Amino acid sequence: MTAQAVTEPPDLRTAHVVVVANEKGGTGKSTLSIHISIALLKAGFRVATIDLDTRQRTLTRFLENRASWAANAPWNVELPYHHALDRGRSDNIRDNETAEFGAFAAAIAEVEHEYEFVVIDTPASDSYLMRLAHSLADTLVSPINDSFIDVDVFSRVHHDRTQRGQVAQYADLVLEARRKRRLVDQGIIDWVLVRNRMSSTQSNNAKQIVTSLKRLASELQFRPADGLHDRVIFRELFPIGLTALDPIEEAMRSNTLSASQASARREVDTLVATLQLPERSRGMATHMQARHEWFDRISRYYREMRR
Ligand SMILES: Nc1ncnc2c1ncn2[C@@H]1O[C@H](COP(=O)(O)OP(=O)(O)O)[C@@H](O)[C@H]1O
Ligand SMILES: [Mg+2]
Repeated sequence: MTAQAVTEPPDLRTAHVVVVANEKGGTGKSTLSIHISIALLKAGFRVATIDLDTRQRTLTRFLENRASWAANAPWNVELPYHHALDRGRSDNIRDNETAEFGAFAAAIAEVEHEYEFVVIDTPASDSYLMRLAHSLADTLVSPINDSFIDVDVFSRVHHDRTQRGQVAQYADLVLEARRKRRLVDQGIIDWVLVRNRMSSTQSNNAKQIVTSLKRLASELQFRPADGLHDRVIFRELFPIGLTALDPIEEAMRSNTLSASQASARREVDTLVATLQLPERSRGMATHMQARHEWFDRISRYYREMRR
């Protein structure tokens, strides 16, 4: 029997928690939360969503728009079970933190056994609540734009790129969440850094970013991934609560899918596939089996990366 085989399996919740986060604002957290949630719903999963961004509430606003579209749409518009956290209203920061913590714990408890996926959109801040959200993540998706300013929140970017950067504040937060997670339930956080708003023209800067991310990946233990290109379609459908994955050609009263829509759909599908989320395959009776299979596969991946 190998050493791994005698390790206790982790006590997995039914729901696989996908946290979309990055301490940097405007990198595409809400855009990715929206597209991942809708893609999972369309794949037939039971999906719950939680909006921790009590200030911007982008995911919540999107889902409100989607619900009102759903009321009149000629086709079935999938909606997740959504929970938006309220802002603490007290003047006392500590009281607000306690209230938010309680509300978040209640939101998770409500959905963790009923749903297959919980997708959590987060604000760009470092708070107690954010640290808690990170330590609950099974898959942590951090969008990053092709800019060294964005890389700098993971690892201090040096003028001399041959020098190693220090682990910067956001990566530190994730590494701490990972340590906590291992202690609490021997769980694992699969951290995927997703490039977002990629330009269609391959620039020298983008190439350098890709090289930097590859180098940082083994140091900080994340998986780098290509995500979404910068496309109007990823932002223009927000007011009607739709995405490129919806049958918008019908909504627009046109019978054909534009080339841009088709590429956008492919891109979202590829991104979701890259996340390697637990999916029941043939012969698997339950989502829980898929969760265990996911855990084995992802832990193997990180073990090999550390070698
Ligand atoms: N792939 C993309 N293509 C086009 N616009 C995008 C893309 N990703 C994000 N955006 C736009 O960039 C802005 C910031 O995105 P958002 O998802 O709100 O970021 P965050 O939640 O991290 O603050 C928004 O205006 C959004 O519509
Ligand atoms: Mg946002």
